[in-house]
Amino acid sequence: VVVPKPLVKDEDDEVDVASGKTKVTVFYGTQTGTAEGFAKDDYAADDDQYEEKLKKETLAFFMVATYGDGEPTDNAARFYKWFTEGNDKGTWLQQLRYGVFGLGNRQYEHFNKIGKVIDEQLSEQGAKRLVPVGLGDDDQCIEDDFSAWRELVWTELDQILRDEDDTTTVSTPYTAAVPEYRVVIHDPSVTTLGDNYLNMPNGNASFDIHHPCRVNVAVQKELHKPESDRSCIHLEFDISGTGITYDTGDHVGVYAENCDETVEEAAKLLGQPLDLLFSIHTDNEDGSSSGSSLPPPFPGPCTLRSALACYVDLLNPPRKAALIALAAHAAEQSDAEKLKFLSSPQGKDEYSKWVVGSQRSLLEIMAEFPSAKPPLGVFFAAVAPRLPPRYYSISSSPRFAPHRVHVTCALVYGPTPTGRIHKGVCSTWMKNAVPLEKSQNPSWAPIFIRQSNFKLPADPSIPVIMVGPGTGLAPFRGFLQERMALIEEGAQLGPAILFFGCRNRRMVRNISSDFIYEDELNKFVEQGVISELVVAFSREGPQKEYVQHKMIDKASYIWSLISQGGYFYLQGDSSCNFAEMGHFEVNVLRSYNLIRPKFQENVDSTKAESIVKKLQMDGRYLRDVCQ
Ligand code: 2AM
Repeated sequence: VVVPKPLVKDEDDEVDVASGKTKVTVFYGTQTGTAEGFAKDDYAADDDQYEEKLKKETLAFFMVATYGDGEPTDNAARFYKWFTEGNDKGTWLQQLRYGVFGLGNRQYEHFNKIGKVIDEQLSEQGAKRLVPVGLGDDDQCIEDDFSAWRELVWTELDQILRDEDDTTTVSTPYTAAVPEYRVVIHDPSVTTLGDNYLNMPNGNASFDIHHPCRVNVAVQKELHKPESDRSCIHLEFDISGTGITYDTGDHVGVYAENCDETVEEAAKLLGQPLDLLFSIHTDNEDGSSSGSSLPPPFPGPCTLRSALACYVDLLNPPRKAALIALAAHAAEQSDAEKLKFLSSPQGKDEYSKWVVGSQRSLLEIMAEFPSAKPPLGVFFAAVAPRLPPRYYSISSSPRFAPHRVHVTCALVYGPTPTGRIHKGVCSTWMKNAVPLEKSQNPSWAPIFIRQSNFKLPADPSIPVIMVGPGTGLAPFRGFLQERMALIEEGAQLGPAILFFGCRNRRMVRNISSDFIYEDELNKFVEQGVISELVVAFSREGPQKEYVQHKMIDKASYIWSLISQGGYFYLQGDSSCNFAEMGHFEVNVLRSYNLIRPKFQENVDSTKAESIVKKLQMDGRYLRDVCQ
């Protein structure tokens, strides 16, 4: 194993003076941290200043995720816009050799669009493609896609190094080393910084994913009846005095904490006390670089309790790189071998069945291999990924609630195939949140707003069709509040139809109704905010009835609204996984195909689909993808 040290980030110079080697830079565009994690497995340069930096690069790799409707991630958006829209770049990319690995999901129409576009454009601008673009598919095993692509990269890099310096003996192919932070244990009397990290004023005029703002929970209430077997929380964050602003239809990113039970279990598995005060660092005391060249995910000193609660993802199945790191620290040979096998190409099927298929969490796996106790520096660098923020479609409008951000969140709670009860991190936090209404010391969270294109038409007289089963109702509640404000201002509103779907209208045996915001919705109908509310109850009759069935019943009305220039909005239930969302989408498209022929007998389904495409192109068919 050769650590790719000569290739690691070298601050400004193109050539590492000490070694005389060409620098390799990895640019990553990430929303949830997966791309960053892959970059970190190998060698990384965290860089936000794409424009100037790219001009200096001779060898660069791009790890770019595509999310939503073929959009770049937040941190790559500026680069993407500049790179794809700028037309006066000349031939300056001829000096660049590059590779692109895209992260996407085949369930989505624009699979890996950003990776493909960047790859093509780099080539068109004269850059030399070292390896074919890697198309990571999160619907399958993206880590395997990455490993396969990485093998191609190592071969090319190996060759470059041989060509470049024949005095160095590079006979072994490069593979990634297990990254590790240097850990310093502190005296408990030292002030803790990491504990308050996400709470510090950052001096920024605006807040974003890297600079969230601490806000209190003002209201927290259960939308289901107390005796319900399920839970859906209505939460209001108090943004007064923070400078946070938002638009109807935007998303809120929330940094929640792992619950006490999870944190305590993790500390036990690591064999460390929760009140341990420590800090993690990138460089060794002697100034040499440690295994990880990325900045630590949190500043210290910080208690282990805070680090485990706020910064690490403990409940998702671990990636293969995490298993390799655990194997490297397993005292028992048998544990090390099994972990290595799971992460090897031969163990591919076992990994997808035993780890991913059975949804074994990182903690569950650590419990299965008790001799694998990684030191904290390894745990935070290579085993536990960062806990990403969770995104929610805001369920209010600033016209109605200028000082509040409302969230409608279904509790994620249920058994996994191994019998573990999986509790979603953020929904569990929201379920347990104590609001300002009830306590002087309310719960709080670091949050930020993410803009979205999911907006009502600028002209309020344009008809709107909204489809939102379950908590998919959230953004539409904001839309309706906005329409209410428009009515109060004297605007003439066009027709609006809302399709909502839930399990049952009334309490049946022990199962309570999940018809959330029922009274509010009925009031919106009375006030003329919506011309029609159509609810599909999926568990009342002998057969499932979903929103798309109701849409088919209402096909003529929907078509008349679309013919008048209407906008169509769709939001899936937030508990739907990727596959379900894809399925849902297909169902709706199918409904359209059924709608069309009813009104123009000569229109076939291909034409119907092209009409849907045209609606999309015109920005009149909008899906809210909140992930
Ligand atoms: P179900 O749970 O009875 O299957 C909110 O989650 C509502 O959306 C529920 O009534 C749920 O029905 C329904 N739902 C689940 N999958 C769906 C899909 N693919 N399309 C439309 N509605 C769906």
